Amino acid sequence: FSTKKDRILLGALDQSTTGTKFVVFDSLGNQIQQDMIPHEQITQKPGWLEHNPEQILENANKAIQNTVKKLEQDGFSISQIKSIGVTNQRETVVAWNKKTGKPYNNALVWSDTRTREICKKYLEKNNGNANYYSKITGLPINTYFSSYKIRWLLENVPQIRQDLFKDVAFGNMDSWLVWNLTKGNHFTDVTNASRTSLLNIKNLKYEKSILNDFEIPEETLPKVLSSSQEFGIIQDGPLKGIPITACLGDQQAASVGHGLFNLGDSKNTYGTGCFFLVNTGTEPRFVEGGGLLTTILYKLGKNEPTVYALEGSIEAGGSSINWARDNMGLYKDFHELKDLIDKTKDTQGVYFVPAFSGLFSPFWREDAAGCILGLTMHSKKEHILRALLEGIAYRTRDVVEAFEATAGYKIDSLKIDGGLSKNKFLMQFQADILQKDIYQTKVVDSTCLGVAFAAGLSSNVYKDVEELKQYIEIETKVQYNSQFSNQAEEQYKKWKKAIQRSMDWKD
Ligand code: G3P
Repeated sequence: FSTKKDRILLGALDQSTTGTKFVVFDSLGNQIQQDMIPHEQITQKPGWLEHNPEQILENANKAIQNTVKKLEQDGFSISQIKSIGVTNQRETVVAWNKKTGKPYNNALVWSDTRTREICKKYLEKNNGNANYYSKITGLPINTYFSSYKIRWLLENVPQIRQDLFKDVAFGNMDSWLVWNLTKGNHFTDVTNASRTSLLNIKNLKYEKSILNDFEIPEETLPKVLSSSQEFGIIQDGPLKGIPITACLGDQQAASVGHGLFNLGDSKNTYGTGCFFLVNTGTEPRFVEGGGLLTTILYKLGKNEPTVYALEGSIEAGGSSINWARDNMGLYKDFHELKDLIDKTKDTQGVYFVPAFSGLFSPFWREDAAGCILGLTMHSKKEHILRALLEGIAYRTRDVVEAFEATAGYKIDSLKIDGGLSKNKFLMQFQADILQKDIYQTKVVDSTCLGVAFAAGLSSNVYKDVEELKQYIEIETKVQYNSQFSNQAEEQYKKWKKAIQRSMDWKD
């Protein structure tokens, strides 16, 4: 580009578990400006986690305004923004009234486990077979997925039942934002739809028999589009007139940002939770009992093929580190966390299983409990914090091993991104415990980059995926060399015992 004004810009609106961010990139993938606003984590009861959809919408608008202001101060103009993409925390459900635009309830967040009883009923109904719907949806029966959350709303919010056949709209955060920004387009993309447990992931349609089982009228659900096409035009605010041309669940967006375009490409994102995804090609791979999800990775255009993934979802990442700070007061900020970790060479035998929402992949045990094991009178908070970080790394090994056993081949290294991937101790421990070298992307925020790229694809900024590849910069040097040690292997064996304890802790 010869001047700033020559650059084509793309926007990414990222609605994640902890906050809402608007980021602007230029078409070469350079981040130009951003703003992020956190929202309240509402926990009324143990196991419950809600977000206020109106607060999130307000934050989205504020983040857009703030970013645009900085952009203009920096010498760019809004008219350079060609289009934007929306990416989001997946599975989290919002129910709203299409006439008034008002939500009926706070959103039920993906990690909320209040639907345990509902899941039990569906298990019993299907002869205890947790994989009853997996052949169609790719997902086991578990509190994580949207269908059980919609069922809870139907059973517990009388107004939703009353309005059901008239004005009720259900959607994940992507649909809530798209509906509001476009003033009425009730859409989602295939990746988000694939997390509802209502979608037939082969034909990309909601499965009638499952809708019947859950008594969810199809007209309450968003129309399913590909991940990269027009979702509507923004009707208000500084971006008025700009089209939304992509939508992707955040882990799938990160996969695009990482350039997972070839069979076998994989990444692990360390966000609120951790999510390990592997590109498995254009046919879904259903592996019963492997403990991984079969999910849609992307469909980058109406007429483009659907690409699938196997996913290992880990329930707790950054959320557990925040818990140690906010609920337990074990440290004040990340500098103090680092100092505490540096103070000790090991955990002195302490293990921490961060099963705050039960255990996801590959165990799928909603009844598992978070636990700290191996405490002695010598244990200090630094040992507990170190054990917590190690617990996240052990969980990643659990899912990578499950993948290798399921898919029948080994991944040779791990590509990483996400806020927690900046923690050097965690990443070195991860490399050692996995016995794999770790590579980082140059842009830590692969999620935003991925959805901006997807938006650029359908607004003719890029010709095709091939063109995109040149802008995706993975560090070519290994950032964390795996140092194999017998001790790491011994520790992992012990971890297996700790995680079993977490699963034995039944109600
Ligand atoms: O499936 C839940 C996931 O999408 C949450 O992502 O980035 O908010 O941790 P994140």
